[in-house]
Amino acid sequence: MAVSGIVMVLYLIVHMIGNLKAFSGAEAFNSYSGWIRTVGNPALPGATTLWVIRIVLLVAVVAHFWAAISLWRQAKRARPQGYVTKKPVAQSYASRTMRWGGVIVGLFIVYHVLDLTLGVANPEGYDSTPYERLVASFSNPFATAFYIIALVLLGMHLRHGIWSATQTLGQSNKRRERTVNAFALVFSVVLIGGFLLTPFAVLFGVID
Ligand code: HEM
Repeated sequence: MAVSGIVMVLYLIVHMIGNLKAFSGAEAFNSYSGWIRTVGNPALPGATTLWVIRIVLLVAVVAHFWAAISLWRQAKRARPQGYVTKKPVAQSYASRTMRWGGVIVGLFIVYHVLDLTLGVANPEGYDSTPYERLVASFSNPFATAFYIIALVLLGMHLRHGIWSATQTLGQSNKRRERTVNAFALVFSVVLIGGFLLTPFAVLFGVID
């Protein structure tokens, strides 16, 4: 769970920074999108690097999902009967919503690829530039609302996930817990804040 999560977080850092190219205008954004498809050329043919990234990501998503299901099964086996009374314990909202938050983020990724990569769920369609698809998508308040909800859920998922990963990988102890929690919060806010800049910029006409 932790290792596949780290692979996805590394992708998200690069993806969020790349999205900021939208603030440099249509030409810069579209040529960035073209560059992603030709990284490593001519040593590597065509979009080899992009396909390697896609395969690594897909393996990480499947591994993450598979690990989540086996953890859930393990928890169920450990306590097949539900609690008669459930005393509220100090649990964050994020930790209680890891499963459903994860499912919604998964559905968001499917929609997102259909929207901005393939264009089939985008008003501009496939026969358009990535910049046109981006602006068209965030000009639709329903699509933008879905993006914002999914990003906020992703932020909560990440915050709790980073904390859990440090426990799994043995990087945390009682003394370090506060630092880890603060880091997880700041990291998630900066990452999601960076992602949110683009839809809000379209919404307020900064990007058009
Ligand atoms: C507002 C936030 C986001 C914006 C503006 C955005 C923008 C984009 C754009 C423009 C593309 C298409 C790139 C191209 O075809 O050249 C893309 C692809 C993609 N995005 Fe995002 N993205 C956002 C958030 C996310 C998040 C949160 C995730 C993951 C949880 C994600 C995962 C992906 C994936 C997997 C692809 C497909 C890459 C490929 O195979 O070509 N994106 N994104």
